[in-house]
Amino acid sequence: MARPRSQFVCQNCGTVHARWAGKCDGCGEWNTLVEEGTSGGIGSGPQMARKARAGTPVTLTTLSGDIEDAPRIRTGIEELDRVTGGGFVRGSALLVGGDPGIGKSTLLTQAAAALAEKGHRIVYVSGEEAVAQIRLRAQRIGVADKPVELAAETNVENILATLEGGRRPDLVILDSIQTLWTDMADSAPGTVTQVRAAAQAMIRYAKSTGAAIVLVGHVTKEGQIAGPRVVEHMVDGVLYFEGEGGHHYRILRTVKNRFGPTDEIGVFEMGDKGLREVPNPSELFMGDRTAAAPGTAVFAAMEGTRPLLVEIQALVAPSPLGTPRRAVIGWDASRLSMVLAVLEAHCGVRFSQHDVYLNVAGGYRISEPAADVAVAAALISSLTGLALPHDCVYFGEISLSGAIRPVSHASSRLKESEKLGFTQAVMPPGNEEIVGGIWSRAYRPRELADLVVRIAG
Ligand code: TYD
Ligand code: MG
Repeated sequence: MARPRSQFVCQNCGTVHARWAGKCDGCGEWNTLVEEGTSGGIGSGPQMARKARAGTPVTLTTLSGDIEDAPRIRTGIEELDRVTGGGFVRGSALLVGGDPGIGKSTLLTQAAAALAEKGHRIVYVSGEEAVAQIRLRAQRIGVADKPVELAAETNVENILATLEGGRRPDLVILDSIQTLWTDMADSAPGTVTQVRAAAQAMIRYAKSTGAAIVLVGHVTKEGQIAGPRVVEHMVDGVLYFEGEGGHHYRILRTVKNRFGPTDEIGVFEMGDKGLREVPNPSELFMGDRTAAAPGTAVFAAMEGTRPLLVEIQALVAPSPLGTPRRAVIGWDASRLSMVLAVLEAHCGVRFSQHDVYLNVAGGYRISEPAADVAVAAALISSLTGLALPHDCVYFGEISLSGAIRPVSHASSRLKESEKLGFTQAVMPPGNEEIVGGIWSRAYRPRELADLVVRIAG
């Protein structure tokens, strides 16, 4: 008799190993391998014995419409509709990931309520909370009277049977994917095999009925339960809901979108009555700018198609240590080292006897190299003790040779700055055509050394 075979699946990345190991070959994480049976894995079992059925191919030209007018369901929550690319797409699957407690269920309850109010059939399936708890949350955010259908269920076959009854749903929310399990796989709920099989069954349901589905996924510490990463490639879109500890704002970020742009963000604020949209996030990340203080510079950033002003704060202080400290919050530490090195090598500014601390206001995280110039300005301002003009914005990339290089979307950055009352800019050379009006005085140095002279005198 054949022994039932088993395999070891990494709960972080899904790599299958024939035998147990401490470290996963696929992603290099430790202690993430969990034994899962293969006998009842996806695609085995009696279902596979059925006869093949021929499909009917269609040509591209016979398909009407294009991606632009994919039938969408708009929630009316602007910050959410922007990141999905204009609303949930019918027949598609969207994954919303994020840390536990960040507000995923709150966001989706609000979206569900907004859509149900417009007459759509919305089913909210929760595997984590009882129906009464979902209702409590709905009460708290003031939407308990909206006709959202609630179900507390974790078995995929039961969920599908529930959805069969009544009118075809427009949107089904599954909260969360890690609690779902299907009879098709025999591993424990939360393992890679179960999460994948359950997601696959729900995605198949979406494609065949035209209902949009949203899978909620917790980002988990390695080794516990399978993270949302293992279904990222199966779904049509991936959104991540992020926030910094101690701050109330939350950012919804598009990571993947088959039907829209992938670099959009939506900004929300968590209050005691749920999530509130923040249509003008620049105000949130600018700090208190009533008085000009040395060491602060405003960076005109871009998030997707959206300009955003962020305050950068630097503190440069004489160091008592042999090796001075470098600490960064909200930016790339190696990028800071690079800017410091360029300032030393090409501009004669010495930091070797100084501790350097860099912070981005509001707990925001910057990923753009366009922040280089703003960082350099904040560093020089702190080192010299000279405050920068309070109505000036900064952006531009610094190269290792000390040159200031152009960045994209200069006009959007300037437009947002003007809206918020800024009248001066330090920006890269080029873009002559857009530097009209109040920006004709914009300072456009080619070399970082010129900027240093301007700030430090
Ligand atoms: P929740 O949506 O349950 O998070 P997730 O589904 O991502 O795990 O949100 C939980 C947190 O949000 C919890 O700490 C309570 C807080 N919260 C508020 O501050 N205000 C509110 O109106 C609601 C509903 C939740
Ligand atoms: Mg939740």
